[in-house]
Amino acid sequence: MIIVSPSVLSANFLDLRADIEKLNKSKAQWLHYDVMDGNFVPNMSFGPQILKQINQITDKFIDVHIMVSNPKAFVDYFAGCKVDLLTFHIEATKDIEEASELIDYIHSKSIKASVSVKPKTDVKVLEPLLHKLDMVLVMSVEPGFGGQKFNPEVLEKCDWLYQYKCQHNLNYHIQIDGGINGETGKQAVMHHCDSLVAGSFCFNNPNGFDSGVETLLALENA
Ligand code: DX5
Ligand code: ZN
Repeated sequence: MIIVSPSVLSANFLDLRADIEKLNKSKAQWLHYDVMDGNFVPNMSFGPQILKQINQITDKFIDVHIMVSNPKAFVDYFAGCKVDLLTFHIEATKDIEEASELIDYIHSKSIKASVSVKPKTDVKVLEPLLHKLDMVLVMSVEPGFGGQKFNPEVLEKCDWLYQYKCQHNLNYHIQIDGGINGETGKQAVMHHCDSLVAGSFCFNNPNGFDSGVETLLALENA
């Protein structure tokens, strides 16, 4: 099944409740929450306080993507919120041991753990971690901003992740994030992604939020 995770980064912050309610009523299964620190990426978004308030009005699965230089500290900042899955960036850790310990730390908080790779990072560096991950997030744009153009070169990483998962009998999700719409989403699904993040395509869709979500869900049968 395809999982659609609308990114709240593209919501209207002046009317956030209305946008969360659109998401609630839609068939999207997850809510993607992008956290940026102005250091790992050249932008800032929101922290745990706003997520706590969002959690008061949604029951969706909370998919938090932290684009920050000190991910362990952010795991602690978010530990007081309901978070179902937390993705950090491999580029923000000094070595594989630190990343591995961070995965264990996230699991110790009863949160599912995921690691992301930026477009220029070789996905094979994640190999020693794959057996204990719940998801891998392949970035199809440079992290930092919504509304950028999809980079199809990253699709071969999704193929590699899928082959590895089949060969080793693993069951992590493969998520893709950045520039996803009906066309690029179809390519991603053909390359074995089962979780699609979409910001602009849902929140700024001229045919409405539901149309964005349903277009992506329908790719299951494309
Ligand atoms: C970018 C974020 C994305 C972003 C996606 O750094 O991680 O989640 O919101 O937005 P779109 O779908 O508009 O590219
Ligand atoms: Zn994201």
